[in-house]
Amino acid sequence: MGNVFVLDHPLIQHKLTYIRDKRTGTKEFRELVDEVAMLMAFEITRNLPVQEIDTDTPVTTAKTKVLAGKKIGLIPILRAGLGMVDGMLDLIPAAKVGHVGLYRDPETLTPHEYYIKLPSDIEERELIVIDPMLATGGSANDAIESLKKRGAKNIRLMCLIAAPEGVEVIKEAHPDVDIYLAALDEKLDEKGYIIPGLGDAGDRLFGTK
Ligand code: PRP
Ligand code: URA
Repeated sequence: MGNVFVLDHPLIQHKLTYIRDKRTGTKEFRELVDEVAMLMAFEITRNLPVQEIDTDTPVTTAKTKVLAGKKIGLIPILRAGLGMVDGMLDLIPAAKVGHVGLYRDPETLTPHEYYIKLPSDIEERELIVIDPMLATGGSANDAIESLKKRGAKNIRLMCLIAAPEGVEVIKEAHPDVDIYLAALDEKLDEKGYIIPGLGDAGDRLFGTK
């Protein structure tokens, strides 16, 4: 079964408080999401494999470490996932970025895919699917299925906030996918919003309604 990691680093939790706050405006919301994404990238990459190499320093030769093995692919789910890409690229600048465009029908809550563009070598990459919100789990589930259908083998899911319902959907459908969260909230409301959550992530990031 996939693991669920709640990244309760004090800086992440502090910033998440202001992300949740309804008084936080678009500019600050965007900046905070960017910063939390960077901090989460630090945690999510903690177990990447490294290999030892010899490096000539000005004084001697040292045994040093560099990242080994698979390269990273970031897969934001449009549109709100875009808000977390730059923060992650600050730490992993060589990552390739694929996009999956999904919107959730407000009535049925089912996701509809309208766009997909991926790096050509996704089967060789460690993919991190990014979306601020994991609510019913429908969107993340669809995105992960789409990636697997196209050959992806190693996938992690990174979200700011999840509802238990969404986590269960992903654990059930994709037991190979580890889930990284800044917070696991209480529940979904009758409209599929996460409680207490942060409202509509896409609207708050982009200033739409
Ligand atoms: C939001 C959010 C997730 C999805 C989560 O996107 O960014 O993609 O809802 O809900 P789910 O787990 O129930 O599928 P939305 O469909 O509102 O589109 P947007 O990013 O374009 O605002
Ligand atoms: N999508 C959002 O943006 N917010 C929620 O609470 C649920 C789905």
